[in-house]
Amino acid sequence: MSKPVILTGLRANNDLHLGNYLGALLPIVDMATQRAGEYQINLFVPDLHSFTTPIDHANLQKSIIQNLKMFVAAGLPIDHSDVVIYRQSYIPAHSELTWILDCFTGMGEMSRMTQFKDKSAKLDTDRISLGLFNYPVLMAADILLYDTDYVPVGDDQTQHLEYTRDIAERLNKKFGDLFTVPKAVKEQHEFFGKDQGLRIKDLTDPSKKMSKSDETGKGVLFLTDSPDTARKKIMSAETDSVGSVHYDYEKQPGVSNLLDILKLMGGGPDEFIGQTQYGPLKIAVADKVGEFLTDFQAKLAKVDEAAILSKLETSEQAMSGVASKKLYLVQKAVGLRP
Ligand code: TRP
Repeated sequence: MSKPVILTGLRANNDLHLGNYLGALLPIVDMATQRAGEYQINLFVPDLHSFTTPIDHANLQKSIIQNLKMFVAAGLPIDHSDVVIYRQSYIPAHSELTWILDCFTGMGEMSRMTQFKDKSAKLDTDRISLGLFNYPVLMAADILLYDTDYVPVGDDQTQHLEYTRDIAERLNKKFGDLFTVPKAVKEQHEFFGKDQGLRIKDLTDPSKKMSKSDETGKGVLFLTDSPDTARKKIMSAETDSVGSVHYDYEKQPGVSNLLDILKLMGGGPDEFIGQTQYGPLKIAVADKVGEFLTDFQAKLAKVDEAAILSKLETSEQAMSGVASKKLYLVQKAVGLRP
């Protein structure tokens, strides 16, 4: 297997919503569909990363499988031989390489990670886990074990990618060529195109992006919402008092968001521009979103769980081989193996 590697994590997120679908699932599905053949596509579930902050552990298994089903329903081509899907914790080399990389990584370096700063600021010091601090090192191991060239990551992860390049170069310098250094962020953007990760906004507060952390859930269109529930949320979406439909995120963020959703769902927003009532636009959005949900949920119900499990097993076997080989090279380099 010598095709260049594209790798990314499929975060096990509960309660996926339309924002996740448009901003994360679809871009990954499209990338895998378009690049398989020429590239090997490593998609993995970062299950070890999933409890760096507290979660409900009783639900983890269920949500991992549910999450993968969502990707398959969204069109992930798991039958393609260039696409592998695996669970991080099933390949022990991820944890083992993390330890070794830890010992060449500075506390200061990790303390400067903005995601760590943001997330830890919300927690008491005794609840900030070492795992949260260590998160980028595990991420670097995820990437470096497979000689990855390309990693499609959002803005929140670019600093982690830069660290991955740094630690790879650091060890290559000290021990000879151990790792493929993944491409720099700028090249990643050129390769994947700039518009990864479309962001749609919360319906009740269009100043923030649609996110499951919205407490009421009223502004969030969940992929498991019935078309009826979705319609109610859309009909009561926040608009403005301008009195006519225009695409203007500054003055009319709610209406602009509705226009965007309509367009992304395959509708035509143009006919609504200039209309003096918001109702017809909302109805059109609700119709399109309803069609989408009906179709998506039918696909989801048909996803073959056994096929996913068997794909995981064969991928995990193959990737364990690749990862152990790389780990062995590193173990030799640091003197752990003769
Ligand atoms: N940190 C990534 C995220 O939050 C998930 C992830 C873990 C990842 N390991 C990775 C992404 C390795 C790319 C490569 O989205």
